[in-house]
Amino acid sequence: METTRWTVDEELDEGILINDPGIREAAALLREGRLVAFPTETVYGLGADARSEEAVSAIYRAKGRPSDNPLIVHIADLNQLKEWVGKVPPLGQALIRRFWPGPLTLVLRYRRGLASQVTAGLSTVGVRMPAHPVSLALLRAAGVPVAAPSANQSGKPSPTEADHVWDDLAGRIDGLLDGGPTGVGVESTVVDVTGEVPILLRPGGVTLDRLRKVAGRVDVDPGLEQEGEAPRSPGMKYRHYAPQGEMWLVMGEGEALRRRMAELARQASQAGNRVGILTTEENQSVYQADKVLSLGSRKDPASVARNLYAALRTCDDARLDVIYAEAFPMEGVYHSVMNRLLKAAEGRVIPAE
Ligand code: TXA
Ligand code: MG
Repeated sequence: METTRWTVDEELDEGILINDPGIREAAALLREGRLVAFPTETVYGLGADARSEEAVSAIYRAKGRPSDNPLIVHIADLNQLKEWVGKVPPLGQALIRRFWPGPLTLVLRYRRGLASQVTAGLSTVGVRMPAHPVSLALLRAAGVPVAAPSANQSGKPSPTEADHVWDDLAGRIDGLLDGGPTGVGVESTVVDVTGEVPILLRPGGVTLDRLRKVAGRVDVDPGLEQEGEAPRSPGMKYRHYAPQGEMWLVMGEGEALRRRMAELARQASQAGNRVGILTTEENQSVYQADKVLSLGSRKDPASVARNLYAALRTCDDARLDVIYAEAFPMEGVYHSVMNRLLKAAEGRVIPAE
């Protein structure tokens, strides 16, 4: 299959973009049941008409995605919601008012009207309204709810640039809208609002503190942080975001962290490995390794989140055997960064002291 690639100017606003020739063509393809990748504020998504069984099953095939992992439905208009979800509970409504459009996915009670593979057989459905002019213009021009997982080959880091999508899926999808690098860099926060207390199923672009400011109590799915507990979000159990090299997360801070990282890198090099380091601007010059990658400033968690997935892809390109990554404090935006790093490291953790 030939993949059409359009470049769109993401600086323009949604009202102008809706007449962009690339967006119009992409929207027409979606309405025909084809697959189109597009930028959102978090990561690139691989979209298909969420009502079409055939289109939705093509997403799973193109990505090589396990079929028990449900998809997020993307909308540009709240009125679309009524057709296929039940009543949105008051706390859900409050979160929608505060965070949509934005990097928050709400798990709601599903009624009917979507392809069965969107929900993967669950009685709930994940929905979000992305805050990106290209996605909003595309969704409006298509006029259909769009099911879209991250547009990576299953098991690879999510794509934050159009080239990542191209590397993973060219020839397997019908179109790719290139709207430049995404801003947030990690996926949306997933929150289940079907029960009395909202439950965080996946940390992401909206932090727990911000959710709690609106919703009061928000519980964290025990399956997220505890070994041996099954996560309630099917996608969280898979080996995601894992680089090909063996990654280790080094916990600690300051001088102790730098010393331990440097020592680990030296030992691994001496043992004949190609060694990579994931660090920050503050520590970048301290290390010697085959690849030293800075994620941004420690004082700017948003930059660390934005650069994380591209850095993991660079690790693969550099054919590293071992990667040592500096850990971050488990708070704010770093909560989602640490969640992704722990997955990439498959739980391999080394204390600095
Ligand atoms: O930022 C994002 O959310 C991106 C962009 C493209 O919107 N999308 C994304 O989709 O990350 P995906 O498919 O890579 O991740 C969706 C996550 C999975 O962990 C899935 O299990 C969970 O959301 N999910 C979807 N529907 C669910 C449901 N009904 N109940 C629980 N978890 C659900
Ligand atoms: Mg994904």
